[in-house]
Amino acid sequence: MTEPSQTERRDAAVAAIRAHTDRACDTALVLGTGLGGLVDAIEDPVHVPYDAIDGFPRSTAPGHAGRLVFGRLHGADVAAMQGRFHLYEGWSARDIALAIYVLKGLGARQLIITNAAGGLNADFDAGDVMLIEDHMNFTGHNPLTGINDEAIGPRFPDLLHAYDPALRKMALAAAGQAGVPLRRGIYLGIAGPSLETAAERRYFASTGGDAIGMSTVMEVIAAAHCGLPVLAFSAITNKATGGTDQQVDTIEDVLANAAISGEKIARVLAALLPQTA
Ligand code: HPA
Repeated sequence: MTEPSQTERRDAAVAAIRAHTDRACDTALVLGTGLGGLVDAIEDPVHVPYDAIDGFPRSTAPGHAGRLVFGRLHGADVAAMQGRFHLYEGWSARDIALAIYVLKGLGARQLIITNAAGGLNADFDAGDVMLIEDHMNFTGHNPLTGINDEAIGPRFPDLLHAYDPALRKMALAAAGQAGVPLRRGIYLGIAGPSLETAAERRYFASTGGDAIGMSTVMEVIAAAHCGLPVLAFSAITNKATGGTDQQVDTIEDVLANAAISGEKIARVLAALLPQTA
């Protein structure tokens, strides 16, 4: 039997979700490590566990619940992925992309992504929030490798505006209204799961990367492929400069600092979503 195409997988997953709920999804959210608490503000929620969705991967990463949450958030109809999929869990780049195609298939007009990341930029502190302006894909993977599904998007999608300029402008204004200082910069994606050596961190910083993490780039490539505008924030959970003062990073520190940054991201979204709804 031949492998199902991404279109077939997407349609099966959307049908399975629609068998559970007919709730609208205008804005899709992907919640990163330690940032799942952002869903607590979703009103009148309907939960669809990933294991109820045909062909969908399962969430195995710490701090990732593994369900879709539909509901109203600051006046917007949202569907949030509480738990995302990473290369380091063994999911393929195409599995990771599938989830994004499914969100688009549910009706999403825009995608808001969050992640936990190390600060390569020496000016960044743990607990900061960075608005992602661009990325560098150092994972060695691409979710569009293989036969292209023309029904989803073009063979060679352009990534110049992968992080939607209009949404970024709105996010900066919303952060100003909310009194949340936003860093801006370039997210550098690696496959993980080991953290970088100090030498790698110094190298990655020298390439112009500002924050480093193990997610997001596959999702953003998939979103560009299917024409879904993206806004993305990094929760800076640790300093990752690789300097002589480099600390040892633990998942406990990452989760604790993600909570601090996550509270700031929540305030930005509270100011932003009423304007995009
Ligand atoms: N490196 C890679 N991924 C991460 C880091 C880091 O320092 N912090 C949180 N996610």
